[in-house]
Amino acid sequence: MTLENSFHGRTLTTLAATGQDHFHELFQPLTPGFVSVPANDIEAVKKAVTDNKVCAVMIELIQGEGGVNVLTNDYVKDLSELCKKEDILLLIDEVQTGNGRTGELYCYMNYGIMPDVITTAKGLGGGLPIGACLLGEKVQDIFAPGDHGSTFGGNPIACAGALTVIGRLTPGFLSEVKAKGEYLKMSFTGAKGVESFAGMGLMAGIRPTGDLAKIMNELIGKGVLALTAKDKLRLLPALNIPFEDLKKAVEIILSVLEENA
Ligand SMILES: Cc1ncc(COP(=O)(O)O)c(C=O)c1O
Repeated sequence: MTLENSFHGRTLTTLAATGQDHFHELFQPLTPGFVSVPANDIEAVKKAVTDNKVCAVMIELIQGEGGVNVLTNDYVKDLSELCKKEDILLLIDEVQTGNGRTGELYCYMNYGIMPDVITTAKGLGGGLPIGACLLGEKVQDIFAPGDHGSTFGGNPIACAGALTVIGRLTPGFLSEVKAKGEYLKMSFTGAKGVESFAGMGLMAGIRPTGDLAKIMNELIGKGVLALTAKDKLRLLPALNIPFEDLKKAVEIILSVLEENA
């Protein structure tokens, strides 16, 4: 089971897991067996568990491509307890939220839960191509050496990069990420041209009152590269961005949002 509006990747089975039909169109037939339910609705999970033979639940704690939608604390705690009670594996997709992005090493640590499996990539490599799947106690013996592999999997250069990244994610560094995130929240919440702000750490989504595509293009013209996610401007700056640079970017974004309000 996964969530509607989720995004889990472009390999065939993660595409099947992705709860957005339009991603599926060109890639039929997909791996069967996935159902998706609306986010932040524990009753929908209970119903899916009763109606289907659910063996595992996979979620993003903050839906990235889906529009920077942060799952609520109560929902995540209830889901985690339900999974434990029903002997369902809880998988957290930390491809985007992991490796310090939210100010904790992994985003699940903000919720006080313990997942069975975590997938992670992106920031792990600091630009080099690497992904990892972390297995908790319940599934630790599922794979034996040689059960799974890939041509470039575990290559020494990407692994050296990942070790350097992990080595830099110290408590001091992570608290700076949190402070920068608080600064973003404080700067954009209630600002002119901002309908809403959502995010955690350095993963932020701003729903503008003005035209999103126009705002993004104007930002590019002023030297700020932002992304979009659904109807939001998405900010995912480098975690080591100096505060001064972050301030400069925020000032530019605020002025463009205001001009387009
Ligand atoms: C939450 C999440 N999971 C997984 C992926 C991996 O996608 P891909 O298979 O394209 O590397 C992404 C990429 O954007 C993502 O945001």
